[in-house]
Amino acid sequence: MTSMKTRHFLSLFDLTPAELRSVLRRAAELKALRRRGERHAPLAQKVLGMIFEKASTRTRISFEAGMAQLGGSSIFLAPRDTQLGRGEPIEDTARVLSGMVDLVMIRTFGHALVERFASCSGVPVINGLTDYNHPCQLLADMQSFIEHRGEIRGKTVTWIGDGNNMCNSYLEAACQFEFQLRVAVPPGYEPDAELLKRAAGRAVLLRDPMAAAKDADLIATDVWTSMGKEEERQRRLRDFAPYQVTAHIMAQAQPDAIFLHCLPAHRGEEVSAEVIDGPQSRVWDEAENRLHAQKALMEFLLQPD
Ligand code: CP
Ligand code: NVA
Repeated sequence: MTSMKTRHFLSLFDLTPAELRSVLRRAAELKALRRRGERHAPLAQKVLGMIFEKASTRTRISFEAGMAQLGGSSIFLAPRDTQLGRGEPIEDTARVLSGMVDLVMIRTFGHALVERFASCSGVPVINGLTDYNHPCQLLADMQSFIEHRGEIRGKTVTWIGDGNNMCNSYLEAACQFEFQLRVAVPPGYEPDAELLKRAAGRAVLLRDPMAAAKDADLIATDVWTSMGKEEERQRRLRDFAPYQVTAHIMAQAQPDAIFLHCLPAHRGEEVSAEVIDGPQSRVWDEAENRLHAQKALMEFLLQPD
């Protein structure tokens, strides 16, 4: 089953910068097509299998709706209801799914599990979030920046809060889209050390969120307590208290800076209501762009030529 040509999307590094740009251009076209109400169903008969080991609103809906709009269909698999939940090896599951579906999306905890699945899969595998990164969200974030502010190459992006999966994907994006990234996190919550090294020259680690926000074109944050870290919530509330994105922080940035958050958000924790519900926030476009960006990604992976 395994083909030399099978492409996966486990990180932003799995596509070249030119391929990423072309997926984003296509995402903008697909958004316009949908706005005009035009039918575009190139993936008729194609089936997407989706494995979710963590909760989701946006990722599930955007993949499921996206596949339906492209003419295909999708199957939602919760581990509780599959043999995965009873210990069937991930490698065996990958080989079996490869024979039946055309594309697989996985959201899980350990990144190695997605890599193991992909290594045995004859069909493209998309990472729908792991503890390590969230590349699909970055497609939507880049699309949102470009549609509101134009080219992102050479711009300054500031990440404030937890050095989590989203922060790691911002490091990947800084390399692939060639922007400068400032990461402001408290001690002990740094992003992946290897990724920081890989992004050297593009990314700097800071402690002071005010200094990090100065003249930024984009300010982004995420929850302080990611899925799987719930037992650390009280400690995290204390450690992250100085890292809330407030109007005062936004005022340090460029006057036309935008604010992004992958959602779900906790107003009064990582971001004030004033900011997320304010004029610089583009979070609703960002959420919608998950749909368009992933439709473009699925088209790309299934019809790479
Ligand atoms: N941003 C994001 O991935 O949202 P969900 O957890 O709702 O899928
Ligand atoms: N960092 C968050 C992102 C949710 C989309 C989490 O992993 O829970």
